[in-house]
Amino acid sequence: MARGAVNKALAARLAALEEERDARVLVEEAVDVTLPYDRVPAGARHPLTTLMERVADVFVAMGYEVAEGPEVEAEWFNFDALNFVPDHPARQMQDTFFVQGADGARNDESGVVLRTHTSPVQARALLDREPPVYVVCPGRVYRTDELDATHTPVFHQIELLAVDEGLTMADLKGTLDHMVQALFGEGMKTRLRPNYFPFTEPSAEMDMVCYVCRGESVGNPDRPCRTCGSEGWIELGGCGMVNPKVLTACGVDPAKYSGFAFGFGIERMLMFRHNVEDMRDMVEGDVRFTRPFGMEI
Ligand code: PHE
Repeated sequence: MARGAVNKALAARLAALEEERDARVLVEEAVDVTLPYDRVPAGARHPLTTLMERVADVFVAMGYEVAEGPEVEAEWFNFDALNFVPDHPARQMQDTFFVQGADGARNDESGVVLRTHTSPVQARALLDREPPVYVVCPGRVYRTDELDATHTPVFHQIELLAVDEGLTMADLKGTLDHMVQALFGEGMKTRLRPNYFPFTEPSAEMDMVCYVCRGESVGNPDRPCRTCGSEGWIELGGCGMVNPKVLTACGVDPAKYSGFAFGFGIERMLMFRHNVEDMRDMVEGDVRFTRPFGMEI
């Protein structure tokens, strides 16, 4: 008897409370379906694209022309025209995706590769035009690397080529300094370290002053810099004076003309310019990565 009464009272109270809650929810959580809603969230342009365009713009403003070439490239353009001897290690399987080997083809045909750098566009640009030639070549390139935090088998480079009468390494240095100032701010500068590329002579590795610490972290344990690892310099890419053999292979008279070229990776620049720690974020296509870069156009 007693238990029945308690159960009944409990059920009645529960019903009352639920009714009260339902009434409250109906008011508090009401959705006005007539309000305009935030439609499909806006996408974003990929920061690699915007950075590549921004770099190209620096040179377009100086009178350079944008030049492009195919990603599936003749071995001749990717290597031979650029003075890579036939047994150069960069031709070996560990670097290059071969699409069609020269062996399988007729003897007089070049093999076909996925281009390993944007430098073949140098040769194409020289064959297509009469000097003076001033071109900037942005594009996608391929190497047989595993995808990890600092490598990706598909990446982007920007290449610059200037061929004219009387160009010297001073022009190369001035152009590099102008570029880093345009991209990273006033007072930035570059330095060159000797290096070797078959298609430039002399060749150099180019570094720019760390734009975060401006070199002040060097030998200064109180002020360590994560961006440059307290080195004071950030490695950008390769450069040099166009090898006369390349000019000759492309029908340009090296006695009359000289030129300079440089090339660097956009992924790397995006990493240090925007503190992106993992290259995989750049290829996964998650809009949460791209959106914070904004809709810069
Ligand atoms: N193509 C070279 C690379 O991929 C870079 C480079 C470009 C070097 C132009 C010199 C001149 O490493």
